[in-house]
Amino acid sequence: MDVLRDLPEATVLREPSDLEPFRRDESHVQGPRPLAVVRPHGPAALRELVRRAKAEGFGLVPRGAGTGKAGGCVPTERSVVVDLSAWPGSLQVSAQDLSLQAPASASLRDVKAAAEAEGFFYPPDPNSWESCALGGTLATNAGGPNACKYGMTRNWVLAVEALLEDGEIHTFGIPSVKANAGPNLTQLLVGSEGIFGLILGATLRLMPKPREFTTLLLPTRHWADLLDLPGRLCAAGYLPSAFEFFDPAVLAELRAHGPEAARRLPGEALAILEFDDRGCGSETFLEGLLDLLGPLTEGLEMATDERQRQDIWAVRRLTSAFLKERHPRKVSEDIVVPRSRLKDFFQRLEQLDIPSVSYGHLGDGNLHVNLLAAGETAPEELERQLYDLFRLALDLGGTLSGEHGIGLAKREAFLALSHPGHIQVLRALKRAMDPCGIFNPGKVL
Ligand code: MLT
Ligand code: ZN
Repeated sequence: MDVLRDLPEATVLREPSDLEPFRRDESHVQGPRPLAVVRPHGPAALRELVRRAKAEGFGLVPRGAGTGKAGGCVPTERSVVVDLSAWPGSLQVSAQDLSLQAPASASLRDVKAAAEAEGFFYPPDPNSWESCALGGTLATNAGGPNACKYGMTRNWVLAVEALLEDGEIHTFGIPSVKANAGPNLTQLLVGSEGIFGLILGATLRLMPKPREFTTLLLPTRHWADLLDLPGRLCAAGYLPSAFEFFDPAVLAELRAHGPEAARRLPGEALAILEFDDRGCGSETFLEGLLDLLGPLTEGLEMATDERQRQDIWAVRRLTSAFLKERHPRKVSEDIVVPRSRLKDFFQRLEQLDIPSVSYGHLGDGNLHVNLLAAGETAPEELERQLYDLFRLALDLGGTLSGEHGIGLAKREAFLALSHPGHIQVLRALKRAMDPCGIFNPGKVL
């Protein structure tokens, strides 16, 4: 029996060859072929999908552009992928409310461009910002380099529209930063990875566009010298808008095999440090900063125009895809440690026998520890390595995901290593919001 027969306001894909690409995202996990892929165009499709999912016992797995890193949109047994790429709606900026309304189907690139066209800035900038869907960034609470100063996606969400288990679309939140009428259901949905309902659109918060940047390349001969810099900068009142790094192994690989621009990168390890405060190009600001950098100023390069700045960022932006191309079966983690514990983290990582290389967001302690040989490692040994890594992050007061989320990829570790009370509360919320278990089953919990 075709559980999706005559579904209104929707396109339904059923051919095995059409379903195949929906088995994976950009993580290392792969799911079974979904029962179908549905592209809803209107509320009637969603209402009917919820009714049939409950009646027939299948799951609804939300999907944006499939650029997630934790398998959050990967189907599990007996599920239908709800591909939101055709969900209707347009982008609307309200200059007076400093807000932007957009459907889940909008690309993050278009959202950022629409803000920018009116002189505003929408900070979230996950590495996939040019190809990901806004809906995916809302469901996963995406991060990126700018989170160092501006925080994650959730800091920029004022309201969401979401499909809940009654089959209806509800709006939570208002276009104002002040809204305090009861617990915040907007924020419960953002980052919930589709397990409480499906986010269909949002009202986002904007800010005036930064117009000045200081972008530095900081090469260093002694890799460990970089590790206390994020904390020292913050303590001295310098909050970078981004502070990224490559460890010696990633830098060497980029230099040896990367594109032209990467071959010229200096140092044994390298950081990219950017400020966007008004006045960050002034002499006073730079003097203070150079003072703090001390011996790290040796070999320092500063972008002198926007093109140079973009060239620096281009190399950082391609790192993930570059490593994936060279090590297709690698596992890329995104643990976090408080920036004050970065030195401890790398010292203890060295003692753990986890063959890995690291790069990522040093400024906020969100480290992409990559296990390049994961594909050739025995599963039990790989699990040992990953659990040791997660335990280390937790031990230092951090967490096992900074920005990619839990999804399928980290579900078991999340359940095993989280405080039982935390899981109990999440399960109670799940039962209350999704009593039939139709929303993204088998993810997170
Ligand atoms: C990045 O910052 O490059 C990505 O979040 C990391 C990844 O692709 O694993
Ligand atoms: Zn990242």
